[in-house]
Amino acid sequence: MTTVTEVPFVDLHDGNRIPQLGFGVFQIDESETPDAVRCALEVGYRHIDTAEMYGNEGGVAEGIRAAGLDRGDVFITSKLNNGAHEPDDARRAFDGTLEALGSDHVDLFLVHWPLPTLYDSDFVSTWKVMEEFKGDGRARSIGVSNFQVEHLERLAAETDTVPAVNQIELHPSFQNGEVRAYGEEHGIATEAWAPIAQGEVLGDDTIGEIAEKAGRTPAQVVLRWHIQRGNIVFPKSVTPERIRENFEIFDFELEDSDLERIDELDRGEAGRTGPHPDKFDYAG
Ligand SMILES: NC(=O)c1ccc[n+]([C@@H]2O[C@H](COP(=O)([O-])OP(=O)(O)OC[C@H]3O[C@@H](n4cnc5c(N)ncnc54)[C@H](OP(=O)(O)O)[C@@H]3O)[C@@H](O)[C@H]2O)c1
Repeated sequence: MTTVTEVPFVDLHDGNRIPQLGFGVFQIDESETPDAVRCALEVGYRHIDTAEMYGNEGGVAEGIRAAGLDRGDVFITSKLNNGAHEPDDARRAFDGTLEALGSDHVDLFLVHWPLPTLYDSDFVSTWKVMEEFKGDGRARSIGVSNFQVEHLERLAAETDTVPAVNQIELHPSFQNGEVRAYGEEHGIATEAWAPIAQGEVLGDDTIGEIAEKAGRTPAQVVLRWHIQRGNIVFPKSVTPERIRENFEIFDFELEDSDLERIDELDRGEAGRTGPHPDKFDYAG
């Protein structure tokens, strides 16, 4: 039986640490979120990835209570909404996130998207407000999401705080190598969103062969590849059997040759499933 303690932690450059496997709640309706989160916590997950944009921060808090856990038992990430990049809006949005979570802090708070075509490209002012949240302790760590290398370089040149993480689209078909390498060089931990490409990668023949050899499912093989490559992951599911399956990845290892075969599935930009961060301008 897998236990909580088997999930490794990743050290962040600010001295905090994050469980390498968590549970994502994108596209889970708020009414279904408490049950899904409770199920994940009962299986052993102790890290939840939510966002104001997902509309289910309150459901996350309810799920934690329903599982009989204390707030401090769970690492919670949330994200600043796209419509709230102006400094005062960001302050109000962060207050709202804490209120919805029923907590005086989040473990990690991210700028959800850089939105370089909006707000006069000024994600720097937004980041300086994130530094306030870190400074007053209400965000234990701060980071970014969907930041490209040029966005990270600009933060490095114009602000004092290196993001603790960058949460980016990353899965076998789209390995986002340049952004990931920048993070590795600069102490920014990489979080892989859509780690199984929302299920699209699970029918791949190579993944299937490796899964058969390992006696595991395709999803477990892909998640294990992430873990051995050092990525932080939080697969989403509302299906109890899959929630458990995705957690049971710490009692086997992939051989180097299998990791390399999965590395070779990278299709570059053609493998991207979500919007391109340079162009994404949804601020609703
Ligand atoms: N920062 C960002 O911009 C951003 C963007 C997207 C996602 N994220 C974060 O990353 C998390 C994960 O990404 P994601 O939700 O987009 O995609 P994902 O985790 O790659 O895939 C989720 C999909 O795969 C299915 N699934 C899950 N486990 C499975 C298994 N073992 N076998 C077969 N199918 C399985 C789920 O179906 P069922 O639910 O029906 O079981 C769901 O349709 C999100 O929840 C969110 O926290 C962040």
